[in-house]
Amino acid sequence: MNVVIIGASGIGKHHAKWFHLEGCHVTAFSGTSDASCRKTGQTLTDLFGFQGRTYTDYRRMLDFEKPDIVCICSPNESHLEQTRYALEVNSHVYCEKPVAWPNLATYTLSSHPPSESPEVTHPILRQTLDKTRSVVALADQRNRLFGMNAQYVAGREAYQTIYEKHNGPMDDIESFYFLLESKGISGNYSSYEGIWIDMAPHALSQIIALMPPGNLDMSHMDCRVKEDNTVARFRYGSGSIEAKVSKNAESDVKRKFGVNGFLVDYYGQPDDQGVYCAFLRHGDDIVKTVDFMQLSVRRYIKSVRSGGTTPFVDGHAAVKNLEMSMIILEHAHADNRLTLKE
Ligand SMILES: NC(=O)c1ccc[n+]([C@@H]2O[C@H](COP(=O)([O-])OP(=O)(O)OC[C@H]3O[C@@H](n4cnc5c(N)ncnc54)[C@H](OP(=O)(O)O)[C@@H]3O)[C@@H](O)[C@H]2O)c1
Repeated sequence: MNVVIIGASGIGKHHAKWFHLEGCHVTAFSGTSDASCRKTGQTLTDLFGFQGRTYTDYRRMLDFEKPDIVCICSPNESHLEQTRYALEVNSHVYCEKPVAWPNLATYTLSSHPPSESPEVTHPILRQTLDKTRSVVALADQRNRLFGMNAQYVAGREAYQTIYEKHNGPMDDIESFYFLLESKGISGNYSSYEGIWIDMAPHALSQIIALMPPGNLDMSHMDCRVKEDNTVARFRYGSGSIEAKVSKNAESDVKRKFGVNGFLVDYYGQPDDQGVYCAFLRHGDDIVKTVDFMQLSVRRYIKSVRSGGTTPFVDGHAAVKNLEMSMIILEHAHADNRLTLKE
């Protein structure tokens, strides 16, 4: 299968590598300038021997390459337009999280009263959510597969193995805890609600996958946005949830999650053979598994090929993820005012 990447200098280079290692042919990528494309092209060649074409206009790339899969790794505000175009040239789409977000410079949340019911009410957020729904519906109409990358959800099987070893069957989920720290977050998303917008999709994708068909309970909603972190506590489905996303440039980042108080640390590193893997640790017990991004890409390719399975986060889960992220943010209390423009 032929794959192209829109935006390969950041996380996109890892997608390019994983698609290549999973047996696809990465024929091209796009960037914003000739200089950045040259630099990224060299990086991809060093990573996995990339020999494809480069473009500074993604539309030209899609018109010419007509790929089986378009992998979208550009800034959030361009995801929808690029997805729509990719569907028009009949490609399947694998898009980075969040599935979409409006340009942060175009609206403010601070004076907007949230709803008591589980719905997005801010007009600009609502508009983005509606557009996302229609793009996902377009994928369905065209029989193209939309998948979103939020790789933590791929850790479910490894987590369940270690959980069940210590606790028996993971039948009832009464609580879910998620902590994700990151050293660097791209541009506009590195403070206040930007941190939530950027990282919450990882927590939400796990929650959605763990408790289908859950819903947000609006009577238990508490979200605190600070400059370097956001903590949200709420009820979803059968569980009480605590999700903390945080910027931590100073010390080793912590990544932890688990259900019913059984928490594991998550980290990625090369194993004894030098293969980059994911590890879950609970006390002295460590489970090694395939890197979560690699697993997510593998599952997406399998879903495109066979149709017998679905991506870890399909279009409908991506819309739900976005909607929950927006609703929770609309209910946030800010330390300082939310930073979006008046
Ligand atoms: N799943 C994860 O763990 C994870 C981690 C990081 C980021 N992400 C997500 O991945 C996406 C990209 O983030 P990033 O950190 O990789 O960002 P980045 O480092 O800023 O890279 C963005 C890429 O998109 C290209 N680009 C910029 N504006 C564009 C436009 N208008 N149209 C087409 N391409 C454009 C850039 O081209 P140049 O090469 O010319 O600069 C660059 O290659 C975001 O949605 C982010 O939330 C996910």
